[in-house]
Amino acid sequence: MVNNGFQGRGVTRLTPDIYRVPIEELTTFGGTVADDVISRDGAVILPKGTKIVLLGDSLLQVLKRLEDEGIDHLHVMRSDEVTSDALDSFVESVVSSNMIIDSQIARTSIREVKRLFESLRHNKLTPELVGPVMEMARELVEQILRRPKVLFSVARVRQWDEYTFIHSFNTAAIAGFLVNRMDPRLVEKAVLGGLLHDLGKAKIPLEILNKPGPLTDSEFQVIKTHPVVGEELAVKVGIDDPDILSIIREHHERWSGIGYPDGKSGESIGFLARVVAVADSFDAMTAERSYKAPIHYRSAVKNILTDSGTHFDPKVSRVLLLAFGLYPPGSVVELSDGSVGVVVSSGGEDLMRPVVLVKVAPDGSIVREPKLLDLKRSREGICKYLGWEGKRAL
Ligand SMILES: [Fe+2]
Repeated sequence: MVNNGFQGRGVTRLTPDIYRVPIEELTTFGGTVADDVISRDGAVILPKGTKIVLLGDSLLQVLKRLEDEGIDHLHVMRSDEVTSDALDSFVESVVSSNMIIDSQIARTSIREVKRLFESLRHNKLTPELVGPVMEMARELVEQILRRPKVLFSVARVRQWDEYTFIHSFNTAAIAGFLVNRMDPRLVEKAVLGGLLHDLGKAKIPLEILNKPGPLTDSEFQVIKTHPVVGEELAVKVGIDDPDILSIIREHHERWSGIGYPDGKSGESIGFLARVVAVADSFDAMTAERSYKAPIHYRSAVKNILTDSGTHFDPKVSRVLLLAFGLYPPGSVVELSDGSVGVVVSSGGEDLMRPVVLVKVAPDGSIVREPKLLDLKRSREGICKYLGWEGKRAL
């Protein structure tokens, strides 16, 4: 057996590249998962190729899951650095493992949202209409709470005129996932609000709503009526929860005040509306439409980062970025040599390798004159997210 410096802590080297690592050592060991890690009921917990370091703050949840499954060690390939390719493959693995939402629940939710929209379009405005959607929201919440892993874009659009309903479902799942990481008590409202956020589109002429191409200015003016129309419809069918109404009316408001319909800004926009704004935009960017190709998840994440603080609440975009194991400015991180610093820029093209202001040396001493370290030009990588320092750090 080759001594690799980890022997004393229970890590064993199996081949030149593969190690047997107890799960409590995963955080410090890093590396890449060597085989698919499967739960007792056959679900993939960690796909082969997952970079441990890229799990970011979801690592704790993964460790808990492994423990629950009675898995006490993993086979891990040791890797030196995190590359853009690694990020791509990680994102792919997240996306391909998101079938953990029960497909029956997804299908039924989408069908119920469609039924609600069609009833509203035909002027059927009875309070009983919303019941089935509320029921599905509750089931979806249960899924989100039970499965803390990322749930992005669960359903793909097959027919263009289905887009609104599928998008509503995806937005609900993403919003619920994000809120679960901030305030789990609000998950149910976020999910129901996500399912209903575009309710006003039930009154948009179908030739505009499903137009197979970009909208003209006047068509866009019609589309822009949907938040206010949606709020009116919601009230008419008996929805009186101010948070749900705020999601419907305010999900196109923007953090800097450039949104519609009221031009609200910052925290005057409801919290859940700010979450749904991020979820809505993220799903819309990654969706294929008849007039646009989907953009890659990685680019969508980058766009959210670019628009954080102008379009989006920085706190909410941060949660999305962290879910992808990315580190926005202000994140306090531990580097692979044990030093600790604050991310001061997002790393341009390579979000995994930002510039870090190193404040604590590997030996734990405070650095008197903190220095900037560009991780793109360094052997060091981020191995742990420690928290958020906020603007003070900048
Ligand atoms: Fe909308």
